[in-house]
Amino acid sequence: MTTNIAAVPADSGAHALFGPVQIRDLQLRNRLVVSPMATYSAVDGHATDWHVQHIGKLAAGGAGLVFVEQSSVNLQGRITHGCLGIWDDAHVPGLARLTQVIRDLGAASAIQIAHSGRKGSSQRPWEGGAALGDADLAARGEGPWEICAPSPIAFDEGWPTPTGMSRGAIDQVVEDYRAAFIRARDAGFDVCELHCAHGYLMHSFLSPLGNQRSDEYGGSRQNRMRVPLRTAAIMREVWPDDLPCFVRISSVDGLGVGWQLEDSIAFARELKAIGIDVVDCSSGGFKLPAENNLVARTPGFQLPFSEAIRKETGIATMGVGLIRTGEFALSALEQGQCDLVAIGRELLWNPNWVSQVAVEMIGAQGWASWPDQYGWWLKRRWFQQGS
Ligand SMILES: Cc1cc2nc3c(=O)[nH]c(=O)nc-3n(C[C@H](O)[C@H](O)[C@H](O)COP(=O)(O)O)c2cc1C
Repeated sequence: MTTNIAAVPADSGAHALFGPVQIRDLQLRNRLVVSPMATYSAVDGHATDWHVQHIGKLAAGGAGLVFVEQSSVNLQGRITHGCLGIWDDAHVPGLARLTQVIRDLGAASAIQIAHSGRKGSSQRPWEGGAALGDADLAARGEGPWEICAPSPIAFDEGWPTPTGMSRGAIDQVVEDYRAAFIRARDAGFDVCELHCAHGYLMHSFLSPLGNQRSDEYGGSRQNRMRVPLRTAAIMREVWPDDLPCFVRISSVDGLGVGWQLEDSIAFARELKAIGIDVVDCSSGGFKLPAENNLVARTPGFQLPFSEAIRKETGIATMGVGLIRTGEFALSALEQGQCDLVAIGRELLWNPNWVSQVAVEMIGAQGWASWPDQYGWWLKRRWFQQGS
């Protein structure tokens, strides 16, 4: 099946942002996506009431597609003790509850499937975000665990050196991914995304900064892409033909070092060939010397990457990163920089941002984006007070 996301022509106007879009047989009510955002609030990998209210709030807010945060394929692949899990069939009912909530609120659901690699065994960000140690075990009963990666290279000073993975360990992890994709499907997700970004396991295979292997999984770019491509192909094979698969990448590691844009273009070409529908274009994730750090984080700073990948390969892309206004999102679509726009922190700040922007940009029709329970009241206030 070929992917057919209709492009947004230049000067389409705001309706292009809020109109429906189809990917395979999945129809999204608009092109705005809740970006995957880990909340580190799971218990033994299980979704809790926290996730229900968090995801429910975001789905009620009007986005077309709502991502559930990165979920670990096995225990070792968690970032923190609070990461959502998908390594056990017992995780499926909690995830199914989230897909039901999202569906009931009119959005489509997506999940990001992940393994932390050498960035695992970490404190939650608000606990410091450092490698776990004995003090964490004493304080919260959350001790460190052994981590693994393509090569035994520590993430940073003060971090443990991961075990370099044997071929057998790689095969096992790939099978863990397969089982996770099947569970995601059983939980009722519409979209499955493979996380190949931000310095986690799959990204460490891709980048020469994380992969110094001398076997068929290291060395040339083709070899470094082998494990992520094999895993993406399994995702496509497991996922229903009528539903889309996404892959999130770090489009570049940084300035002039490691994985670069031309590598992402080559990777996207291969992903397209195996039937991946959308490349979700993020960046970074490795610890770099200051001079190699990415350009200033200005609005839309990653859009040039999604634009180049889209134009060079013809695959659909999702743009993300400091997109904070509807006008900016629309102009990215109209300029052909991406096909979908993912929003992260702006939605933590204001979960109703999509619906609010809809009213501001398309007027009366924007009220259709609001659930009646909120919209009925806000519409009246709007007409009485002008906002
Ligand atoms: C709280 C939080 C958690 C995040 N967790 C994830 C994650 O689970 N997977 C991922 O790929 N990116 C994650 N990200 C990155 C976001 O998906 C997004 O790419 C990033 O925040 C940039 O978009 P923004 O400027 O709109 O926030 C996270 C970001 C935040 C703020």
